[in-house]
Amino acid sequence: MLSPKDTALVGWPTYLGALGAFNAYEPTYDRLDPKGNRSAADFATKAAEAGGRVKFAYLSVDFANPTGETLDRAAREAVIDLADQADIAIIEDAAYQTLRFDGEPIPPILALEIARKGSIEACRTLYCGSFSKSLAPGLRVGWICAASEIISRLVLMKQAADLHSSTVNQIVTHKVASTIFAPHVAKLRATYMARRDHLLAALAREMPEGVEWTKTEGGMFVWVTLPAGMDGADLLAQSLKTERVAFVPGRAFYADGSNGNTLRLSFSCANEAQIDEGMKRLGRLIRTNR
Ligand SMILES: Cc1ncc(COP(=O)(O)O)c(C=O)c1O
Repeated sequence: MLSPKDTALVGWPTYLGALGAFNAYEPTYDRLDPKGNRSAADFATKAAEAGGRVKFAYLSVDFANPTGETLDRAAREAVIDLADQADIAIIEDAAYQTLRFDGEPIPPILALEIARKGSIEACRTLYCGSFSKSLAPGLRVGWICAASEIISRLVLMKQAADLHSSTVNQIVTHKVASTIFAPHVAKLRATYMARRDHLLAALAREMPEGVEWTKTEGGMFVWVTLPAGMDGADLLAQSLKTERVAFVPGRAFYADGSNGNTLRLSFSCANEAQIDEGMKRLGRLIRTNR
């Protein structure tokens, strides 16, 4: 979709793997804020100034990587309005959709668009699903739901890129998905939910004043904002030497490399004792840096 200098609309912050994939096409980025009131014309003017056109909006919709935030229904509807006015595609990244712990599920953007337009064939959304967060990332199996014209083109591009995904992996995924998928995901949700609750409690206990964090309803992440002037990358370098606590510095999730005073914590792999100890150490380190 992207030629050099074209504009991709992305969250600020957004998933760094998406930025990495898009960067190969040398785009310009502009900030997509579904609750903001920038018009399609405003985005188009900025894109023209950068030497191209707006091509798509990319969104991590449920329990986003990195913030853990979920786009509410009104925001999803607003993205469709904007995309219709701007005549651009919507890339809906639903990688964490199955991992909801509490709150009410919100229909995917693609479902809302189909409800408006009557058929998937009239839709501009590419819904991207993945088994990486629900079964195993190493299987490399995911799926896209979109209008058949788009799927046909993607099939050609995939053939050109890697011929096809591993057939054995697809057979295994199909077998698991059609037999033990639901109880497996239920177990994941229960485990991750307990870890999320534990992490939120540990943050409240251990973090000094001036540190803020998000409270996600699912997924794997909590997004932490440090006091202004503190830098997540510096903190990581110190932490790896003295405290041995790893996290992702937040700057990497911003298309313009801004907002260094942020970091992403993941609660998927650490058990409850590790979370307690890790937050105690991180809190201590942040306090000494203030
Ligand atoms: C928002 C988001 N999308 C996609 C992916 C990668 O998914 P896959 O393994 O299916 O390529 C990740 C993995 O971290 C992610 O966080």
